[in-house]
Amino acid sequence: MWYPLLLLLHLSCAIVFAGGVAFEVVILDALHRTFDRATMERIERVVMQRARRVMPWIVGTLYASGVAMFTVRCAGFRCLQTHFGWLLLAKVALALAVLTVFVKAVRARGGILDPCRFRRTHRIVLVLMAGIVFLAKAMFYL
Ligand code: HEM
Repeated sequence: MWYPLLLLLHLSCAIVFAGGVAFEVVILDALHRTFDRATMERIERVVMQRARRVMPWIVGTLYASGVAMFTVRCAGFRCLQTHFGWLLLAKVALALAVLTVFVKAVRARGGILDPCRFRRTHRIVLVLMAGIVFLAKAMFYL
């Protein structure tokens, strides 16, 4: 009974996390064409402040539920005898790469990333995230 709830929690957090990153890349980036550099720095600073307050809880829940489901799905790494297991492991590897980038961004010096790094980081995370979602579904069908 608790497994479907964990899955629902995991999926909900994944949607909020990936949606937040997509918003930054697709919407926020486009504002650079409208606003000057100083204004954009202020906007991005406010967005990052808000994200720093909310996202650690979302990301913490996402990874905790992921680890809990992993222990069920891949007990004792026996799943590595299957295609599903290898794709799941690839997904977890990408998720760890995302976590590394996320932690670095949260700990950025002075709490601020320069605009160039801000954009590059979000693009990298979005590509990794697309890979994770692809693997998360492919592992059931390939
Ligand atoms: C950025 C991080 C992550 C994202 C965006 C993400 C996203 C997803 C998505 C979209 C699914 C498919 C859910 C469905 O439609 O049924 C899924 C499933 C799963 N994820 Fe994650 N995930 C992340 C991190 C992790 C981590 C760190 C682990 C384990 C250590 C993990 C373990 C799992 C497992 C075991 C499933 C299969 C659940 C099932 O259907 O039984 N995930 N994930």
